[in-house]
Amino acid sequence: MKNIAILCSGGDVSGMNAALKRFVEYSIGKGLRPYFVDHGFDGLIDNNIYEACYSDVAGIISRGGTKIHSSRSKRFMEQSYRKQAIDNLKSHNIGYLVVLGGDGSFKGMQALSDESEGLSFAGIPATIDNDIAGTEYCLGVDTALNVIKYAIDSIRDTASSFSRAFVIEAMGRESGYLALVSALTSGAEMCLIPEIPYDLDNYKSCFQKQRIEGRDYFIAVVSEALKNSEEVAQWFEEELGVESRITVLGHIQRGGNTTVYDRLMAFHFVTQAINGLLEGNKSSVICYGDGGFNHKKIEEVAYKKYQINPELLKLGREFGCHI
Ligand code: F6P
Repeated sequence: MKNIAILCSGGDVSGMNAALKRFVEYSIGKGLRPYFVDHGFDGLIDNNIYEACYSDVAGIISRGGTKIHSSRSKRFMEQSYRKQAIDNLKSHNIGYLVVLGGDGSFKGMQALSDESEGLSFAGIPATIDNDIAGTEYCLGVDTALNVIKYAIDSIRDTASSFSRAFVIEAMGRESGYLALVSALTSGAEMCLIPEIPYDLDNYKSCFQKQRIEGRDYFIAVVSEALKNSEEVAQWFEEELGVESRITVLGHIQRGGNTTVYDRLMAFHFVTQAINGLLEGNKSSVICYGDGGFNHKKIEEVAYKKYQINPELLKLGREFGCHI
């Protein structure tokens, strides 16, 4: 019987636990012995590796976060620690490793793959930032978008009651995906993202006209990378005479009850990863696009820059959102 392990690396997402459940159940169904690595790549180095069973994944399907913890391991950048990790995997007779994470995690997986023989690796894109080139979807994005949707809908209630402008800061690192899709689907008046240069003065006359026509509150969604919430809030006060407030959504965006879509995607990603390993793939990332899954080389995914979808920008502008 071959042994297979799974770990979570980088920012946690809601959907990781659903993936762990599928991992244990599908592995056993395929005649494999499943292992958990606790605390990501740090856990590999420290040999926090244990055999998983059905009871480990009972009752976790709905819960955000990850039962096996995650980490952003600095030690893993050093070859000596990676050697330790490989030795630990071998000591448990583990031949397959599934890594849930973002592009940094896949670079770590690539290094392991280059330095080990007899081990095979599969990556599953899991980051709320949705910023991995080569895949249209990363696990956790739908849940994060729904958390943001609830937050903005609630903020709209108070914004409209008090005739205020709200500047809402979304996560995403250097990616504007969460901010853009949230602005678009929440009917925000403004969306500022790192991919698109902006000049607030270009929006002034349009917003003034809207004020004259009766609009008395505004919702602006901005990406955290721009660090401009104060500037935008001040602009609403000084240029449009609208009292403003800032809401930084922060880490609530990473947690929460996993949506149906993320549960299904977790199942599919894991199934694809295990099937790929059993078919002989040595080192690949499972990507989603055009309605299906494909297995790509790590270089095609981790070392390319993610691009924002121009169709989303077009749609947002058609809805009257100032981007
Ligand atoms: O990559 C996921 C993410 O949530 C980013 O959107 C955010 O910038 C970052 O992680 C926050 O990291 P930490 O949880 O380490 O503060």
